[in-house]
Amino acid sequence: MKTYTDLPSDAGSNIIGQVTAQANRLQQRLTSVKHTVAVMSGKGGVGKSSLTANLAAALTLKGNTVGVVDADINGPTLAKMMGVRTATLEYTPTGVKPAITALGTKLISMDLLLAEDDAPVLWNAHSQKDAFTWRATMEVGALREFIADTEWGNLDYLLLDLPPGTDRLPNVAELIPNLGGIVVVTIPSEVSQLIVKKSVTMARDILKVPIIGVVENMAFYICQHCGEEEPLFSADETPDTAFQQTLLGSIPFDPRLAHANDNGTPYIDKYPDTPASKALVQVAKKIQDFFGEKT
Ligand SMILES: Nc1ncnc2c1ncn2[C@@H]1O[C@H](COP(=O)(O)OP(=O)(O)OP(=O)(O)O)[C@@H](O)[C@H]1O
Ligand SMILES: [Mg+2]
Repeated sequence: MKTYTDLPSDAGSNIIGQVTAQANRLQQRLTSVKHTVAVMSGKGGVGKSSLTANLAAALTLKGNTVGVVDADINGPTLAKMMGVRTATLEYTPTGVKPAITALGTKLISMDLLLAEDDAPVLWNAHSQKDAFTWRATMEVGALREFIADTEWGNLDYLLLDLPPGTDRLPNVAELIPNLGGIVVVTIPSEVSQLIVKKSVTMARDILKVPIIGVVENMAFYICQHCGEEEPLFSADETPDTAFQQTLLGSIPFDPRLAHANDNGTPYIDKYPDTPASKALVQVAKKIQDFFGEKT
C-alpha cells in the first residue's frame, strides 16, 4: 500500500491551494477580532480550561463579545465546562455557527463535532514513525479550520485554550501572527514554576509574543471551618521577583469551582462573592487593562 509520503505529488487534491485558501479565510476572520489571547501552561491539569471558561464568562458579563476556541483537539473539555455539550452546530454556506452559552459566549470545540459521546479523536498515520508529524499537522489543520470556518462575527476577545506543553505555542503564533498575548497558568510548586519559565522564554524571546502575565491557580485552600488560608502545595516556597512581577492573580482552590465546571455552570456568575471569583474577575480586568480597554 502506498502511504502519503510515497506519493509524487498531492494526487490531484491541490492540498497547497486548499490550505492557502483556508489561511486566507483565517486572516479575513481575524480582522473582525479585536484581541486574541492564548491561555497556556507547560504542565497539564493546572486549570487552563477552568480559567479560560471563567475569564470568558467574566469578560462577557462586562459587556464584551467573546469567542472561545477549545484548541485542545485531543482532550476537549470546554463544551462541558461551558454547558453547551449537547448543542447542535448550525452549518451555513459561509461557515459553522459557534455554540452559544447561557451568558452569550461563543464556543467552538472538537467535542461539538464528534458524533459519539465516548468517541476519541484518532489521527491515522501509516507508520509509527509518521504518527507524530501527522498528528501535529492534523492538529494545526483542525485549529486553522476552527478559526477560519467559524462564523464568529465581530468579537472583542477571542480566547484560545491550548493543550498542555510549550510545543503548541509556535503553531498558534504562526496561525495568528498578531496574537494579542498569552496568559500562562501555573500551580505553586517548584516543578510547575520551572516550566512556566520555559514557556515565558519561548513566548517572549523566541516567538516574540507578548506575555500578559501568569496566573497562579489552586494557590491556597480556604478552610471551610475556620476561614484560614492553607497552602495546597509546597508551603515554604517563595516565588522569585520576576515571577511575582508578572502575576495577574492567585486563584484559591474551591471545590465549588470543580463542581461548577462539571455541571457546565459559570462559577463566577453562580458564586460572585467568593475569593476565587473575585480573583478571576480581577484577572479579567487586568487583561482588559493590558489592551488599554476601559473596564
Ligand atoms: N481553583 C480551582 N479550584 C478547584 N478545582 C479546580 C480549580 N482549578 C481547576 N480545578 C479543577 O481541576 C481539574 C483540572 O482543571 P482543568 O481541566 O481546567 O486543567 P487544564 O490545565 O485545562 O488540564 P489539561 O492540561 O488536561 O487541559 C478540573 O477538574 C477542574 O475543575
Ligand atoms: Mg484543559
